[in-house]
Amino acid sequence: PREDEKQMLQAHELLSKFYHHLLLNTKEGQEALEYLLSRGFTTESISKFQIGWSLPSWDFTVKFLQKRGYSLDLMEAAGLLVRREKDQSFLDRFRGRIMFPITNPKGKVVGFSGRSLHSDDEPKYLNSPETKIFNKSRILYNFHESRTIIRRKQQIILFEGFADVISASGASVENGVATMGTSLTEGQIGLIKRLTDSVVICYDGDFAGVEAAFRAGNLLLNHQLSIRVAMIPERLDPDDYISKYGKEKFQQDVIGASLTFMAFKLRYYKLNKNLNDEGDRLQYIEDILKEIIHLTNAVEKDYYLRYLAEEFDVSLEALQQQLAEIGGALK
Ligand code: GTP
Ligand code: MN
Ligand code: MN
Ligand code: MN
Ligand code: MN
Repeated sequence: PREDEKQMLQAHELLSKFYHHLLLNTKEGQEALEYLLSRGFTTESISKFQIGWSLPSWDFTVKFLQKRGYSLDLMEAAGLLVRREKDQSFLDRFRGRIMFPITNPKGKVVGFSGRSLHSDDEPKYLNSPETKIFNKSRILYNFHESRTIIRRKQQIILFEGFADVISASGASVENGVATMGTSLTEGQIGLIKRLTDSVVICYDGDFAGVEAAFRAGNLLLNHQLSIRVAMIPERLDPDDYISKYGKEKFQQDVIGASLTFMAFKLRYYKLNKNLNDEGDRLQYIEDILKEIIHLTNAVEKDYYLRYLAEEFDVSLEALQQQLAEIGGALK
């Protein structure tokens, strides 16, 4: 089994180098390279993140691995090959995709995510399956590569996607990692805590991203981490934002203007509410009181109670009374 894992890691390492070479230096990779450059990727970022191209062939990778003496059964177990049902022959898992190598916390390539080049080619991202060496719930994209900078800055930025991490890095925001679209896990939080206790969540600006930020923030809060949320306007994602508005605005108006988690929640609970409607206003006040009750800092508690009193023109006494009632109901 030790030897098997060694072979799996070696094969990933070799393939990631070869896919990268195909993208940068061959005619076969040209269309994919042009697509990436047109999106704002640069040759520097493509090299830094070892982005590659898998040929649109059924058996290029099969032959590549076979020629180098790898057991095809083992390569199937490594997620690089799949088996055709009808005759049990081996096929390449990744065909005609832009390849993002994914490293484990030690920096070894343990899996890939392949992005389709054409929108009719589903899924948009195809990932390696869970294997002996690829345990998704314990991996963050770019974790190993950014660990020194995260330690130095004492801050980590959480993104949803590969392109966000890579674009941010091009904008000199190099302490970013990605959950790769799935919800944040306890294992990933464990990784974060090795480096820092200060997290900035910078998810996509669409409704799904805001919901995911709310959930991730609450989970991080359970682990005594300090949380801020950097919000992206116009339903863009961080990568879109950088393409549209540039590096400086991303640094200053997004990362630099991140909100405390409580300030984010004040906005979050306004979504889908009409604050001119009396019922919605009362619901909003209750939503916020239910958050205030969990604050441990007395000054913070007082601050947000006063904020509610002023914003909604209600007495502090009434708010305190309702807070006590909510507290009683929780017990
Ligand atoms: P681009 O279109 O390349 O900019 O992708 P994106 O990163 O903006 O994609 P999106 O916001 O839709 O999703 C965020 C992340 O979720 C991606 O980077 C992937 O890691 C993951 N993801 C997106 N689509 C899929 C999919 O079809 N399958 C899987 N397994 N993961 C996906
Ligand atoms: Mn999507
Ligand atoms: Mn999204
Ligand atoms: Mn996105
Ligand atoms: Mn995107």
